[in-house]
Amino acid sequence: MTRPPPRPGRAPALLALAALASACAHSDMSAVDPAGPQAGRIAGMTWYLTIVGTVVFIITIGFLLYALWRGNRRVESYAGEGAERHIRRWVIGATAVTTAILLVTLVYDFATGRALARFAEPDALTIRVTGHQWWWQAQYIDPDPSKRFETANEIHVPVGRRVRIEVRAADVIHSFWVPNLHGKVDLIPGYTNTTYFRADRAGIYHGRCAEFCGYQHARMDFLVIADPPARFAGWYRDQLRSSVPPADSVRQVGEQVFMGTRCAMCHAIRGTEAGSRVGPDLTHLASRGTIASATLPNTRGHLAGWVLDPQSQKPGVYMPPNQLKPDELHALLSYLQSLK
Ligand code: CUA
Repeated sequence: MTRPPPRPGRAPALLALAALASACAHSDMSAVDPAGPQAGRIAGMTWYLTIVGTVVFIITIGFLLYALWRGNRRVESYAGEGAERHIRRWVIGATAVTTAILLVTLVYDFATGRALARFAEPDALTIRVTGHQWWWQAQYIDPDPSKRFETANEIHVPVGRRVRIEVRAADVIHSFWVPNLHGKVDLIPGYTNTTYFRADRAGIYHGRCAEFCGYQHARMDFLVIADPPARFAGWYRDQLRSSVPPADSVRQVGEQVFMGTRCAMCHAIRGTEAGSRVGPDLTHLASRGTIASATLPNTRGHLAGWVLDPQSQKPGVYMPPNQLKPDELHALLSYLQSLK
Protein backbone atom coordinates (compact mmCIF):
# COMPACT_ATOMS: atom_id res chain seq x y z
CA MET A 1 0.00 0.00 0.00
CA THR A 2 1.48 3.35 -0.93
CA ARG A 3 1.14 6.25 1.40
CA PRO A 4 1.57 9.96 0.65
CA PRO A 5 4.55 11.57 2.37
CA PRO A 6 3.59 13.36 5.58
CA ARG A 7 2.97 17.08 5.18
CA PRO A 8 5.81 19.25 6.46
CA GLY A 9 5.29 20.71 9.94
CA ARG A 10 3.81 24.20 10.11
CA ALA A 11 6.55 25.55 12.36
CA PRO A 12 10.06 24.37 13.21
CA ALA A 13 8.97 23.83 16.82
CA LEU A 14 6.56 21.14 15.60
CA LEU A 15 9.20 19.16 13.71
CA ALA A 16 9.66 16.63 16.50
CA LEU A 17 5.90 16.15 16.67
CA ALA A 18 5.72 15.70 12.90
CA ALA A 19 8.51 13.08 13.02
CA LEU A 20 6.60 11.18 15.72
CA ALA A 21 3.38 11.34 13.71
CA SER A 22 5.15 10.24 10.55
CA ALA A 23 6.46 7.20 12.42
CA CYS A 24 2.89 6.42 13.54
CA ALA A 25 1.52 7.11 10.06
CA HIS A 26 3.72 4.45 8.57
CA SER A 27 2.57 1.65 10.81
CA ASP A 28 -0.34 -0.24 9.22
CA MET A 29 -2.83 1.03 11.78
CA SER A 30 -2.90 4.77 12.27
CA ALA A 31 -5.52 7.37 13.12
CA VAL A 32 -3.31 10.15 11.70
CA ASP A 33 -2.99 8.51 8.28
CA PRO A 34 -6.60 8.86 7.12
CA ALA A 35 -7.72 6.89 4.06
CA GLY A 36 -11.21 8.40 3.90
CA PRO A 37 -13.20 11.54 4.77
CA GLN A 38 -14.45 10.34 8.17
CA ALA A 39 -10.97 9.43 9.37
CA GLY A 40 -9.74 12.72 7.84
CA ARG A 41 -12.10 14.73 10.07
CA ILE A 42 -11.04 12.78 13.13
CA ALA A 43 -7.34 13.17 12.24
CA GLY A 44 -7.87 16.94 11.90
CA MET A 45 -9.40 17.06 15.37
CA THR A 46 -6.58 14.91 16.74
CA TRP A 47 -3.97 17.26 15.29
CA TYR A 48 -5.79 20.31 16.60
CA LEU A 49 -5.99 18.91 20.15
CA THR A 50 -2.39 17.68 20.08
CA ILE A 51 -0.94 20.97 18.81
CA VAL A 52 -3.06 23.26 21.01
CA GLY A 53 -2.47 21.01 24.03
CA THR A 54 1.29 21.00 23.39
CA VAL A 55 1.50 24.78 22.97
CA VAL A 56 -0.56 25.42 26.13
CA PHE A 57 1.56 22.91 28.07
CA ILE A 58 4.83 24.52 26.93
CA ILE A 59 3.63 28.05 27.77
CA THR A 60 2.31 26.99 31.20
CA ILE A 61 5.51 25.13 32.09
CA GLY A 62 7.51 28.13 30.77
CA PHE A 63 5.71 30.48 33.15
CA LEU A 64 6.16 28.01 36.01
CA LEU A 65 9.92 27.74 35.39
CA TYR A 66 10.16 31.52 35.07
CA ALA A 67 8.37 31.98 38.40
CA LEU A 68 10.66 29.43 40.07
CA TRP A 69 13.74 31.07 38.61
CA ARG A 70 12.64 34.55 39.62
CA GLY A 71 11.62 33.43 43.07
CA ASN A 72 10.92 36.44 45.32
CA ARG A 73 13.88 38.38 43.94
CA ARG A 74 11.76 41.32 42.84
CA VAL A 75 8.96 40.96 45.35
CA GLU A 76 9.55 44.38 46.91
CA SER A 77 8.97 46.20 43.60
CA TYR A 78 5.41 44.76 43.49
CA ALA A 79 4.41 45.71 46.97
CA GLY A 80 1.07 47.30 47.71
CA GLU A 81 -1.72 48.28 45.38
CA GLY A 82 0.45 48.10 42.26
CA ALA A 83 1.09 44.41 42.86
CA GLU A 84 -2.60 43.63 43.20
CA ARG A 85 -3.41 45.42 39.93
CA HIS A 86 -0.57 43.64 38.22
CA ILE A 87 -1.71 40.18 39.38
CA ARG A 88 -5.36 40.92 38.53
CA ARG A 89 -4.38 41.86 34.94
CA TRP A 90 -2.53 38.58 34.51
CA VAL A 91 -5.31 36.44 35.99
CA ILE A 92 -7.96 38.15 33.80
CA GLY A 93 -5.74 37.79 30.73
CA ALA A 94 -5.01 34.09 31.33
CA THR A 95 -8.70 33.35 32.01
CA ALA A 96 -9.72 35.11 28.81
CA VAL A 97 -7.18 33.17 26.72
CA THR A 98 -8.25 29.85 28.32
CA THR A 99 -11.93 30.62 27.70
CA ALA A 100 -11.24 31.53 24.09
CA ILE A 101 -9.29 28.30 23.48
CA LEU A 102 -12.04 26.19 25.07
CA LEU A 103 -14.75 27.97 23.04
CA VAL A 104 -12.88 27.41 19.76
CA THR A 105 -12.38 23.74 20.75
CA LEU A 106 -16.09 23.38 21.54
CA VAL A 107 -17.13 24.86 18.18
CA TYR A 108 -14.60 22.70 16.31
CA ASP A 109 -15.78 19.60 18.19
CA PHE A 110 -19.44 20.29 17.29
CA ALA A 111 -18.47 20.95 13.66
CA THR A 112 -16.58 17.64 13.50
CA GLY A 113 -19.50 15.75 15.07
CA ARG A 114 -21.96 17.31 12.61
CA ALA A 115 -19.71 16.55 9.66
CA LEU A 116 -19.43 12.90 10.74
CA ALA A 117 -23.22 12.66 11.13
CA ARG A 118 -23.70 14.01 7.58
CA PHE A 119 -21.94 10.97 6.15
CA ALA A 120 -25.15 8.95 6.53
CA GLU A 121 -26.37 8.02 3.05
CA PRO A 122 -29.30 5.81 2.03
CA ASP A 123 -27.61 3.94 -0.84
CA ALA A 124 -24.51 2.98 1.11
CA LEU A 125 -23.26 -0.60 1.03
CA THR A 126 -24.59 -2.14 4.25
CA ILE A 127 -22.59 -4.66 6.23
CA ARG A 128 -23.87 -6.07 9.50
CA VAL A 129 -20.94 -6.79 11.78
CA THR A 130 -21.53 -8.93 14.86
CA GLY A 131 -18.86 -9.18 17.52
CA HIS A 132 -18.30 -12.58 19.11
CA GLN A 133 -15.74 -13.68 21.67
CA TRP A 134 -13.30 -13.37 19.79
CA TRP A 135 -14.04 -12.93 16.12
CA TRP A 136 -16.10 -10.83 13.71
CA GLN A 137 -19.10 -12.03 11.74
CA ALA A 138 -19.79 -9.92 8.63
CA GLN A 139 -23.11 -10.16 6.79
CA TYR A 140 -23.50 -8.26 3.53
CA ILE A 141 -27.06 -6.94 3.49
CA ASP A 142 -28.95 -6.31 0.27
CA PRO A 143 -32.67 -5.70 -0.36
CA ASP A 144 -32.45 -8.67 -2.76
CA PRO A 145 -32.05 -11.82 -0.58
CA SER A 146 -30.13 -13.58 -3.36
CA LYS A 147 -27.39 -10.99 -2.96
CA ARG A 148 -26.77 -11.56 0.73
CA PHE A 149 -23.95 -13.60 2.13
CA GLU A 150 -21.83 -13.96 5.20
CA THR A 151 -18.11 -14.05 5.88
CA ALA A 152 -15.80 -13.46 8.83
CA ASN A 153 -12.89 -11.30 9.94
CA GLU A 154 -12.00 -9.98 6.48
CA ILE A 155 -14.37 -7.28 5.26
CA HIS A 156 -14.00 -6.23 1.64
CA VAL A 157 -15.34 -2.82 0.61
CA PRO A 158 -15.21 -0.94 -2.70
CA VAL A 159 -12.97 2.12 -2.93
CA GLY A 160 -14.92 5.37 -3.22
CA ARG A 161 -18.30 4.03 -2.05
CA ARG A 162 -19.83 4.85 1.26
CA VAL A 163 -20.14 1.87 3.59
CA ARG A 164 -22.72 1.59 6.34
CA ILE A 165 -21.64 -0.66 9.19
CA GLU A 166 -24.39 -1.92 11.52
CA VAL A 167 -22.81 -3.34 14.62
CA ARG A 168 -24.22 -5.80 17.15
CA ALA A 169 -22.76 -7.99 19.86
CA ALA A 170 -23.48 -11.67 20.41
CA ASP A 171 -22.16 -11.88 23.95
CA VAL A 172 -20.38 -8.94 25.63
CA ILE A 173 -19.51 -5.36 24.64
CA HIS A 174 -16.92 -5.06 21.86
CA SER A 175 -15.77 -2.03 19.87
CA PHE A 176 -15.25 -1.90 16.11
CA TRP A 177 -12.32 0.29 15.09
CA VAL A 178 -10.33 0.76 11.91
CA PRO A 179 -8.17 3.81 12.77
CA ASN A 180 -7.35 4.67 9.14
CA LEU A 181 -11.05 4.79 8.20
CA HIS A 182 -13.31 5.87 11.07
CA GLY A 183 -13.74 6.37 14.80
CA LYS A 184 -14.62 3.67 17.32
CA VAL A 185 -18.16 2.35 17.55
CA ASP A 186 -19.34 0.16 20.41
CA LEU A 187 -21.07 -3.18 19.88
CA ILE A 188 -23.66 -3.54 22.62
CA PRO A 189 -25.71 -6.70 23.21
CA GLY A 190 -29.36 -6.15 22.31
CA TYR A 191 -28.72 -2.88 20.51
CA THR A 192 -27.70 -1.93 16.96
CA ASN A 193 -25.21 0.89 16.44
CA THR A 194 -24.29 2.35 13.08
CA THR A 195 -21.20 3.95 11.65
CA TYR A 196 -20.18 5.06 8.17
CA PHE A 197 -16.89 5.23 6.36
CA ARG A 198 -15.49 5.50 2.88
CA ALA A 199 -12.07 4.30 1.76
CA ASP A 200 -10.58 6.64 -0.82
CA ARG A 201 -7.51 4.56 -1.55
CA ALA A 202 -7.20 0.83 -2.07
CA GLY A 203 -5.38 -1.08 0.62
CA ILE A 204 -5.63 -3.39 3.58
CA TYR A 205 -6.60 -1.59 6.76
CA HIS A 206 -6.08 -3.31 10.06
CA GLY A 207 -8.93 -3.16 12.56
CA ARG A 208 -9.05 -4.21 16.17
CA CYS A 209 -11.52 -4.66 18.98
CA ALA A 210 -11.18 -1.54 21.12
CA GLU A 211 -13.17 -2.58 24.19
CA PHE A 212 -11.94 -5.16 26.67
CA CYS A 213 -14.09 -8.22 26.05
CA GLY A 214 -12.34 -11.10 27.78
CA TYR A 215 -9.36 -13.38 27.51
CA GLN A 216 -8.56 -12.95 23.82
CA HIS A 217 -9.58 -9.30 23.47
CA ALA A 218 -6.05 -8.35 22.38
CA ARG A 219 -6.26 -10.80 19.48
CA MET A 220 -9.68 -9.94 18.16
CA ASP A 221 -8.39 -8.39 14.96
CA PHE A 222 -9.92 -7.99 11.52
CA LEU A 223 -9.06 -6.53 8.15
CA VAL A 224 -10.93 -4.07 6.00
CA ILE A 225 -9.78 -4.65 2.45
CA ALA A 226 -10.58 -1.74 0.14
CA ASP A 227 -10.68 -3.00 -3.46
CA PRO A 228 -11.07 -1.00 -6.67
CA PRO A 229 -14.78 -1.30 -7.67
CA ALA A 230 -14.25 -3.90 -10.43
CA ARG A 231 -12.22 -6.20 -8.18
CA PHE A 232 -14.77 -5.74 -5.39
CA ALA A 233 -17.58 -6.74 -7.76
CA GLY A 234 -15.65 -9.91 -8.69
CA TRP A 235 -15.05 -10.74 -5.05
CA TYR A 236 -18.74 -10.15 -4.25
CA ARG A 237 -19.84 -12.49 -7.07
CA ASP A 238 -17.45 -15.19 -5.82
CA GLN A 239 -18.68 -14.85 -2.24
CA LEU A 240 -22.33 -15.24 -3.30
CA ARG A 241 -21.63 -18.70 -4.72
CA SER A 242 -22.04 -21.82 -2.61
CA SER A 243 -19.02 -24.02 -2.09
CA VAL A 244 -18.03 -26.29 -4.96
CA PRO A 245 -18.37 -30.04 -4.18
CA PRO A 246 -14.95 -31.66 -3.63
CA ALA A 247 -13.37 -32.60 -6.94
CA ASP A 248 -11.06 -35.47 -5.91
CA SER A 249 -11.12 -38.39 -3.48
CA VAL A 250 -8.80 -36.74 -0.93
CA ARG A 251 -11.05 -33.70 -0.65
CA GLN A 252 -14.12 -35.94 -0.52
CA VAL A 253 -12.59 -37.67 2.49
CA GLY A 254 -11.82 -34.21 3.88
CA GLU A 255 -15.44 -33.19 3.54
CA GLN A 256 -16.53 -36.38 5.34
CA VAL A 257 -14.07 -35.62 8.14
CA PHE A 258 -15.52 -32.09 8.40
CA MET A 259 -19.12 -33.34 8.51
CA GLY A 260 -18.34 -36.28 10.79
CA THR A 261 -16.36 -34.45 13.48
CA ARG A 262 -17.05 -31.41 15.59
CA CYS A 263 -16.28 -28.95 12.74
CA ALA A 264 -19.81 -29.11 11.38
CA MET A 265 -21.32 -28.48 14.80
CA CYS A 266 -20.02 -24.89 14.83
CA HIS A 267 -19.26 -23.80 11.27
CA ALA A 268 -21.29 -23.30 8.12
CA ILE A 269 -20.25 -24.16 4.57
CA ARG A 270 -22.94 -23.08 2.14
CA GLY A 271 -23.84 -25.87 -0.28
CA THR A 272 -23.29 -28.58 2.34
CA GLU A 273 -25.17 -29.85 5.39
CA ALA A 274 -22.98 -27.74 7.66
CA GLY A 275 -25.06 -24.71 8.68
CA SER A 276 -24.13 -23.80 12.23
CA ARG A 277 -23.59 -20.17 13.12
CA VAL A 278 -21.51 -20.66 16.29
CA GLY A 279 -18.16 -20.03 14.59
CA PRO A 280 -17.07 -18.27 11.38
CA ASP A 281 -18.67 -19.17 8.03
CA LEU A 282 -16.09 -21.21 6.12
CA THR A 283 -17.77 -21.29 2.67
CA HIS A 284 -14.88 -19.34 1.12
CA LEU A 285 -12.25 -19.88 3.80
CA ALA A 286 -9.46 -20.28 1.25
CA SER A 287 -10.22 -16.84 -0.22
CA ARG A 288 -9.16 -15.26 3.07
CA GLY A 289 -5.57 -14.31 3.78
CA THR A 290 -5.79 -14.91 7.52
CA ILE A 291 -7.36 -17.20 10.12
CA ALA A 292 -7.96 -16.92 13.87
CA SER A 293 -9.50 -13.43 13.66
CA ALA A 294 -6.77 -12.04 11.40
CA THR A 295 -3.99 -13.06 13.76
CA LEU A 296 -2.45 -15.94 11.74
CA PRO A 297 -1.67 -16.24 8.03
CA ASN A 298 -3.96 -18.68 6.24
CA THR A 299 -1.33 -21.28 5.34
CA ARG A 300 -1.65 -25.06 5.47
CA GLY A 301 0.71 -25.23 8.45
CA HIS A 302 -1.11 -22.60 10.52
CA LEU A 303 -4.46 -24.13 9.57
CA ALA A 304 -3.22 -27.55 10.77
CA GLY A 305 -2.03 -26.10 14.07
CA TRP A 306 -5.29 -24.20 14.49
CA VAL A 307 -7.52 -27.23 13.77
CA LEU A 308 -5.57 -29.53 16.11
CA ASP A 309 -4.87 -27.19 19.01
CA PRO A 310 -6.41 -23.71 18.85
CA GLN A 311 -5.65 -23.16 22.54
CA SER A 312 -1.94 -23.02 21.85
CA GLN A 313 -2.53 -20.10 19.45
CA LYS A 314 -5.25 -18.25 21.34
CA PRO A 315 -5.60 -19.42 24.95
CA GLY A 316 -9.22 -19.27 26.05
CA VAL A 317 -10.64 -19.51 22.53
CA TYR A 318 -13.95 -21.37 22.36
CA MET A 319 -12.90 -23.66 19.51
CA PRO A 320 -12.16 -27.10 20.99
CA PRO A 321 -9.04 -29.11 20.10
CA ASN A 322 -9.52 -31.88 17.54
CA GLN A 323 -7.82 -35.25 17.59
CA LEU A 324 -7.39 -36.39 14.01
CA LYS A 325 -5.31 -39.13 12.43
CA PRO A 326 -2.59 -37.77 10.08
CA ASP A 327 -4.41 -38.86 6.91
CA GLU A 328 -7.70 -37.41 8.18
CA LEU A 329 -5.97 -34.13 8.98
CA HIS A 330 -4.36 -33.90 5.53
CA ALA A 331 -7.64 -34.70 3.80
CA LEU A 332 -9.43 -32.07 5.92
CA LEU A 333 -6.76 -29.46 5.15
CA SER A 334 -6.98 -30.21 1.42
CA TYR A 335 -10.74 -29.81 1.60
CA LEU A 336 -10.55 -26.54 3.58
CA GLN A 337 -7.94 -25.16 1.20
CA SER A 338 -10.22 -25.91 -1.75
CA LEU A 339 -12.94 -23.61 -0.34
CA LYS A 340 -11.97 -20.70 -2.55
CU1 CUA B 1 -13.95 -7.86 21.46
CU2 CUA B 1 -12.36 -6.72 22.80
